[in-house]
Amino acid sequence: MPTGCRFGALHMKFISKQRRTGEAGVNCRPSRLKRKSLSTLARWLQAVRAPLAGLGSQRFLESRWIVWSLAFGTRSWRRALALRYVSFSPHYFYRTPLNSELSSHQFLISEFRRNTASRRRIFRSLLQKDLNPEQVVLDYGCGPGFLARAVSRQVRKVLACDVSTGALECARALNEGPNISYVLIDRNGRIPVPDASVDLIYSFAVVQHVTEDVFRSILGEWWRVLRPGATVICQVALNAEGWRSEAQWRTDHSLRGRLRWRFGLHCFSRTRDVLYATVTAAGFNPPEIAAIATLCSPLNDDIDDQHLCTFTKPRKLARYVAGGAPWEK
Ligand SMILES: C[S@@+](CC[C@H](N)C(=O)[O-])C[C@H]1O[C@@H](n2cnc3c(N)ncnc32)[C@H](O)[C@@H]1O
Repeated sequence: MPTGCRFGALHMKFISKQRRTGEAGVNCRPSRLKRKSLSTLARWLQAVRAPLAGLGSQRFLESRWIVWSLAFGTRSWRRALALRYVSFSPHYFYRTPLNSELSSHQFLISEFRRNTASRRRIFRSLLQKDLNPEQVVLDYGCGPGFLARAVSRQVRKVLACDVSTGALECARALNEGPNISYVLIDRNGRIPVPDASVDLIYSFAVVQHVTEDVFRSILGEWWRVLRPGATVICQVALNAEGWRSEAQWRTDHSLRGRLRWRFGLHCFSRTRDVLYATVTAAGFNPPEIAAIATLCSPLNDDIDDQHLCTFTKPRKLARYVAGGAPWEK
């Protein structure tokens, strides 16, 4: 079924708006007045982005009203609303010269399709070879669930977790699946999954947003939930061009720097050595760190220039010290 049909209510609402405004097809050129009002709208959306994100929080779409608003209405209404919320995110939907002239509705549908296709390519190129139908896998930082949905066809169960209640609610509306459970990571960073119950963890576009302290505690949780011998595959930004390290951000005392640290989306670049040391100090076997460009043909995605870090939990059971790093005894 074409995506447009799946968004029945959204489709009808915007079709009638298009009729009112005379906005007919993908190739129609908006008038100058309309372009101006679109750019005003875009600026307005930027302004509401901060409260949506929970002002200064890294938990995008966390505000409670997002969850409440998605609790009501028909399935197609919830999907349409979730799509609109996800489009406010700096992560997922963006205007480019290629889609700048699409109507609002066309833009949502084309970005939904682009995200679906992008996560399918990541699944096929970087994850599929490590997956099998017996596995229970954890998608760490699943966001609106595009990757969880792609992976769910290949495994027994996907536990898709995130710190943002709103992102999870959008995922439930947009990317539900019979073998996908969307679960909330609690305020202490605990994943609601029993010890040693997961066969593989993957995480894309998440580690780059967390500080070194948070990354260490995430590794502790990964270690706890993984079965001995199980694998972690995570995408990381290593020495990414134009990206600063956490230390550079922390030592920028300019007003702009402090405001961006407090309210902006954190994006950190790490060095290979720091990554290696952090992963091994958490009790995992030494990681393999490879440029994504060397692992597959171009994904035509933001992550083409980044790295994949793969490591395993030792088969020999180590003792896990709750609240701290797991130490080999
Ligand atoms: C760019 S999105 C990536 C979504 C998804 N992994 C993908 O590739 O499409 C980053 C997600 O990480 C989540 N996140 C941020 N900090 C996190 C943390 N400490 N633990 C778990 N998830 C986190 C955010 O809520 C957001 O949904």
